[in-house]
Amino acid sequence: MKQELSTGPYKGVRDFYPRDWMLQKWMFWKMAEVCERYGYENYNASPLEPTELFEAKSGQEIIENETYNLVDRGDRRVTLRPEMTPTVARMVAAQSRELPRPIRWYSIPNLFRYERPQKGRLREHYQLNVDIFGVEGVEADIEVMEIGYNIMKNLGAKDGDFDILINNRKIMNTLFTQYTNDKDVVYKLSKLIDKKKKLADGEFAAAVSELLGDKAVAFITAIENSSLEEVAVFANPEDVAKTKEIMASLASKGITNARFDITLMRGFDYYTDVVFEFFDVHPDNHRSLFGGGRYNDLLDIFHMDKVPAVGFGMGDVTARDFLEAHNIVPELESMTKVCVAPLSKNELAFAEEVAAKLRAAGVNTEIDFTYRKYDRIIASAQKKFVPFLLAIGEQEAASKQLSLKQTDSGETKTGLSIEDILKTIHG
Ligand code: HAM
Repeated sequence: MKQELSTGPYKGVRDFYPRDWMLQKWMFWKMAEVCERYGYENYNASPLEPTELFEAKSGQEIIENETYNLVDRGDRRVTLRPEMTPTVARMVAAQSRELPRPIRWYSIPNLFRYERPQKGRLREHYQLNVDIFGVEGVEADIEVMEIGYNIMKNLGAKDGDFDILINNRKIMNTLFTQYTNDKDVVYKLSKLIDKKKKLADGEFAAAVSELLGDKAVAFITAIENSSLEEVAVFANPEDVAKTKEIMASLASKGITNARFDITLMRGFDYYTDVVFEFFDVHPDNHRSLFGGGRYNDLLDIFHMDKVPAVGFGMGDVTARDFLEAHNIVPELESMTKVCVAPLSKNELAFAEEVAAKLRAAGVNTEIDFTYRKYDRIIASAQKKFVPFLLAIGEQEAASKQLSLKQTDSGETKTGLSIEDILKTIHG
């Protein structure tokens, strides 16, 4: 028997019906607006990349377990991008000499990761990438964090709704060397800390114990109680000072929800220095929202001169969960402002004339030529969130006087000319 074809999407990915896509576009616009306000330019690339690009520095775990890989008909190994950073690094490296500094770029690509679908994690997501290349100084780190903060505000968040956690991979490396010099153990410890918030207390302690033996308790105490002052005892003063400068500078801009968190690692191996994460503090959505950091060595994979870089990736799934948890999903009207509905074919020619005038005046207008009962026409316009309805019956066609109904309130104005209608619509 022939198996019935499912109408659902592939596991872990989404279809976006127009209403959903509208909310996506709204979020993308809120993100882009802030990036452009800070002088970031929009770029794009193909989701297909040679597999080697990701093998070079993203980290074993993602390549072995999370990428969609294929071999093309020409025997090339191809990967659907799981993240944008290697691609943007490749693009910058390709034109490094010509691109004027600082390079400030943003993009909102769709990314693919073979993960177990769960809250906040899917197999395809969209991710705003904001990156700045060619600036060694901490000003760039501060700028991208400030952009992240302003995007949250632009999405409707309040200061108390989220925290900004900051750490430094160099501080972590100094901490690790106090407990072990085994590179493999350091790598495993850093992955473990990255997962700490998702593990039960006992599980974390047991895993550290396996790696560090009798030094485990001291290590756990160190990472559980490390304020920046305590860290200053062993860390390089420069790294501590940098973290302080970031927080002071953010505070001077009115951003007071940033704090040092030594348990913040971020997953990718290429981060070299400052790392940061935006964290939702809502009890129903207590989780990481997005993050990034500095990756000064990533362009080395292309054997280029050093190009310092810092940036972050902000996913649409966690952003949407944030809006829902805080009850700030916006009520979006349709892009279509007016529905013109001739009640029979006799009124079609006049309806088309009216629609053409509205469109010429910049008003997005659809024509409902189903000639259904008036109630059903209103119901459709309401369901589509089209704010205005112009029903045209015999009388309106004869008198050229129109009646405009607001679909949400039902309020109707009669005896209107096109000019009156434009005035009402433009408010
Ligand atoms: P990442 O931490 O892997 O970093 O991802 C950044 C954000 O993308 C996450 O915090 C989350 O919002 C979202 N995200 C990641 N994976 C998924 C998923 N499977 N489903 C839904 N959302 C997801 C990076 O990708 C770095 N390349 C970011 C970066 C840019 N660093 C510097 N510049």
